[in-house]
Amino acid sequence: MYVAPSLLSADFLNLKDEIVKVCEAGADLLHIDVMDGHFVPNLTFGPCVLKDISKISSVPLDIHLMVENVPFFVDLFLPLKPKFISFHIEAEKHPIRLCEYIRKHGVGAGIVLNPHTPISSIIHLLEFSDLVLLMSVNPGFGGQSFLNLVYDKIKELRKLVDSKNLKLFIEVDGGVNGLNASDLDEAGADILVAGSYIFSSNDYKNSINSLKLEF
Ligand code: DX5
Ligand code: ZN
Repeated sequence: MYVAPSLLSADFLNLKDEIVKVCEAGADLLHIDVMDGHFVPNLTFGPCVLKDISKISSVPLDIHLMVENVPFFVDLFLPLKPKFISFHIEAEKHPIRLCEYIRKHGVGAGIVLNPHTPISSIIHLLEFSDLVLLMSVNPGFGGQSFLNLVYDKIKELRKLVDSKNLKLFIEVDGGVNGLNASDLDEAGADILVAGSYIFSSNDYKNSINSLKLEF
């Protein structure tokens, strides 16, 4: 299991220390939530902050766009060469074109589904994407409760990915913690995003290891 700590729950007054600590504690990716105040009712990191974050992170960035004007934000962040840029399928009219565009720049293309959006809506997109991020909370804020409905969606997607022999990661985001990690693993998740669970703990290594199911 790969673990992507979500910086949204970090101590912003000590951002550099937090990034260094979480990278040293075994993070595989650094999950960055970009919000525009329109697609979700919150605002977070912009391009200046992300540029500096990318300079000090020793693990690749995993950028989760919660925005309406997706191509505009994709262009802002492609130069940072993150591992993935993921956008919400609910926000983009031409997702195949955008996935191809992201990939053309050597970055992994990710599709995000809100909790209510069915897997069937992205069947024709799977071959164009490198990652599917399943939201297990309504996006916009950290520290919300996990929605159990995501288990069936992970299983359905896992089956599809395996049957089509696709090389695609399944990532889960929202309310992930040490109690649901093994069920998420069993359902077929490859990457777990966790914000409050990791950053509110006093031992980042321990909490990351518990999500990796290594004790
Ligand atoms: C929510 C964000 C998440 C958030 C997760 O919209 O996409 O990445 O930071 O936070 P926790 O793990 O606290 O639910
Ligand atoms: Zn996220």
